[in-house]
Amino acid sequence: MKYENEINKRRTFAIISHPDAGKTTLTEKFLLFGGAIQTAGAVKSNKIKKHATSDFMEIERQRGISVATSVMSFEYKGTLINLLDTPGHKDFAEDTYRTLTAVDSVILVIDSVNGVEAQTRRLMEVCRMRDTPVIVFINKMDRDGKNRFDLLEEIEKELHLQLHPMTWPINSGKDFKGVYNLDEKSLVLFTANTKAADEDVVQINDINSNLLDEKLGDRDAATLREDVELVDAVHGQLNIEDYRHGKVAPVFFGSAINNFGVREMLDTFIKIAPTPLCRPTTLREICPGEEKLSGFIFKIHANLDPKHRDRIAFLRVCSGKFERNKYFHHVRLDKDVRFSNPYTFLARDKDVIEEAYPGDVVGLFDTGNFKIGDTLTEGENFFFTGIPSFSPEIFKEVVNKDPMKSKQLEKGLLQLTDEGVAQLFTQFGGNKKIIGCVGELQFEVIQYRLLHEYSASVQFNSLPFYKACWITSKDPKKLEDFIRYKHANIAEDKDGHLVYLAQSEWFLNTERTNNPDIEFHFTSEIHK
Ligand code: G4P
Repeated sequence: MKYENEINKRRTFAIISHPDAGKTTLTEKFLLFGGAIQTAGAVKSNKIKKHATSDFMEIERQRGISVATSVMSFEYKGTLINLLDTPGHKDFAEDTYRTLTAVDSVILVIDSVNGVEAQTRRLMEVCRMRDTPVIVFINKMDRDGKNRFDLLEEIEKELHLQLHPMTWPINSGKDFKGVYNLDEKSLVLFTANTKAADEDVVQINDINSNLLDEKLGDRDAATLREDVELVDAVHGQLNIEDYRHGKVAPVFFGSAINNFGVREMLDTFIKIAPTPLCRPTTLREICPGEEKLSGFIFKIHANLDPKHRDRIAFLRVCSGKFERNKYFHHVRLDKDVRFSNPYTFLARDKDVIEEAYPGDVVGLFDTGNFKIGDTLTEGENFFFTGIPSFSPEIFKEVVNKDPMKSKQLEKGLLQLTDEGVAQLFTQFGGNKKIIGCVGELQFEVIQYRLLHEYSASVQFNSLPFYKACWITSKDPKKLEDFIRYKHANIAEDKDGHLVYLAQSEWFLNTERTNNPDIEFHFTSEIHK
C-alpha cells in the first residue's frame, strides 16, 4: 500500500516555452508555493543570457549551474512534484526534446504579447508525438497583449491543440483587472506582486451578481458576462480523460512575475495531472505498479568546468523501487551495476538518496557506461521505446587535423554522440564522418571537448544539407536502387540505419514524390 501511495503522490512534468515567455519566472513561483525556496530570485536561471551566445564556455558554465536545478522536487498540498528543467537556448533543443520523454505531462507557457513562437511550435510537435497532456499558461497579461479570442484561435490553429479555458481574463495591460475562474465561479482580482497565497479572491456563484459590477465596473462586468456565456457554451466542463490523452489542453491566464493566476493553475495541476504513466518497451508495457525496478537514461550531462569534471546520467524511474547500493541490470552492456552515491535533485541542493520511486529522477555518476536510452532493470532484457532522435539542422564534415590521433578521434566522437551532444553519420560506402547538430554552438563544444578530453584536433567543413531523414522500404530492391542513385546523399547513423540527407525542402519533397516506395522518417527511435 505504501508503495502505491508513493506512486500516486507523484507528478513529473516540465515547463516548456519559447525563450523569454516566462518559464524561469513561473518555475520560481512554483517553488515558492512548494516552500522549496523562500525568496523570489533564488532560482538561478539556466537561461543563457543573450550577451553570452558567442561564448560557449560561459554557456557551459551556466549549464553547469543548471545541473543542480535540472530536476526540482517539492511538495505541494501533499503531492510530490518533480519539475524537470529544460534548457532555454535553442541550440540545446535536443536536450529539451529528450527531457520530454521522461515526463508525464507539461505546462506550456505562452507570452500573451508574442503568441505562438518558433520554439513553441517545435516543442508542441514533440508533445503531440507522445500525446503528452498539456496545460497552457498564457503569461504577461499585465502587458498589452493580443485579443484573448484571437490568441486562443492562434494557439489552436498553429499548435493543433484543442483548448479549454479554465480562467478568463478581464482586459490586459494596464487595464488588466484579473481573471474569472470558470470552474470555481470566483473572481480573482489582480494586484501586482502577489505573495504566495494572498490573492484577492471574490466568490461570485452567480455571474449576474451585482458584486461583479461593483468590483469591475459596469462595462467590464458586462463584457465578462458575454465572454463567459460564449466560452461556457462552446466548452462546457473539462473532460479530464481528454486532457490526460493529450486531446484537450486546459488554459489559464496570468502573470508569472506578479505571481498572478499561478495558484489556480497549480491547484488544478495537482488535481488533474497524471500520476506516473505506463510506458511501452520492446517487450511489453511496463506500469509503475510493477514490483521490479525499471528505468531509462534520458540525459547525460558532462561538465566542462575543470573543477567539476563529473558526468551525470539522469535515470527516470518507471517501475519498482530504486535503492542505493543495490545491483541493477544494465541491459545494453549485459552487466550488473550498483550506485553508491545516487542523488536526487532537491531545489536547494543535491542530496544522496536511499530510494526512489516511479516518476522520480535519479542522478547517477557515470564514467562512460551510459548512453541515452539505456535501460536498468532487475534482470529482464528490454528497452523503453519512444526515445527518438530528431533530425539535426546543421551538418558538417569532421576533418582530422592530426592523423596520428585518429583512434582518439574515433573514440571521442562515439562517446560524445552517446551523450547526445550531436549525431554522428558516416557517408554510405565511404568513411567521411558527418556531425549533425541543432545549433552552431555544439560544434564549438565538440571541437573543444575532442581536443581537451581526447587530444584530437579537428576542423569542420560545412555541408549543404538541411535535414536528415531515416529511410526504409518494404521493397529492398527499390531501397537499393534509391541508395545507388542518390549515393552522395546517403549516410548511416551510429546504429547502422540509413539516412537520406536532403539539401533543401524542395529536394526532399521531390524525392518523396518520385519514390513512393521509400518511407522517409523524420525521427529515429533509439529502440524499436
Ligand atoms: P524564460 O525562462 O522563458 O526565458 O523567461 P523568464 O522567466 O526569464 O522571463 C523573461 C522576461 O519576462 C523577464 O524579464 C521576466 O521578468 C519577464 N516576465 C516574466 N513574466 C512576466 C509577466 O507576467 N509580466 C511581465 N511584464 N514580464 C514578465 P527580463 O527583463 O528579460 O529579465 P529580468 O531582468 O527581469 O530577469
